[in-house]
Amino acid sequence: MKIYVDSADMAEIQNGLDLGLCDGVTTNPTLIARTGKSMTDAIKDICSVVDGDVHAEVLSLDADGIYKEGKELAKISDNIVVKIPMCHDGLIAVKRFTDEGIKTNVTLIFSTSQAILAAKAGASNVCPFVGRLDDISSAGTELIHEIVTVFDNYPEITSEIIVASIRNPLHVVEPALVGAHIFTIPGGVLKQMEKHPLTDIGIAAFLEDAKKFT
Ligand code: G3P
Repeated sequence: MKIYVDSADMAEIQNGLDLGLCDGVTTNPTLIARTGKSMTDAIKDICSVVDGDVHAEVLSLDADGIYKEGKELAKISDNIVVKIPMCHDGLIAVKRFTDEGIKTNVTLIFSTSQAILAAKAGASNVCPFVGRLDDISSAGTELIHEIVTVFDNYPEITSEIIVASIRNPLHVVEPALVGAHIFTIPGGVLKQMEKHPLTDIGIAAFLEDAKKFT
């Protein structure tokens, strides 16, 4: 199991590193925009502290544009994974990057058929969004189960599944039960995962009882 930090915020990323819970980082244009930095500066800053894969997303939607942009992003650091939105030209670009040994992540996956195409194009990662499916009353974690089942049926598929759009701890636990490979978790959800009310009650009771020591 790998845990990534789903953020471009350096404090959140550092917190993940301090906890030993930062096998990589995923970003997207929305997360980069929140930093107030340019895409290049934000990705450079992340790569200066993270040794694992750092996912940087292209904005182009045509194969040549995606390829050009992805090549520029890949120059920033050896650990860059080019993140490409799921689309026809995106799959063409994935094939080109794969042929050159550049890692790719096909993002905005909302169906098993999309995941199959991305995997067959050679994507290193496929990125299904569980929270956004839940938002439209479609069970996000069931999609993960389906993709895991299909990929397990075909050992030649080497793409790793990154569970994304994680909004609560169950979005981690349910996909973990079926063997999803990677979980990209926002800082807030990581905090929620630490907590249990019975843990807090237990700690308070132990400290209270410790006052009775002789
Ligand atoms: O990695 C993609 C993810 O950050 C999207 O999350 O909450 O915007 O659906 P969300």
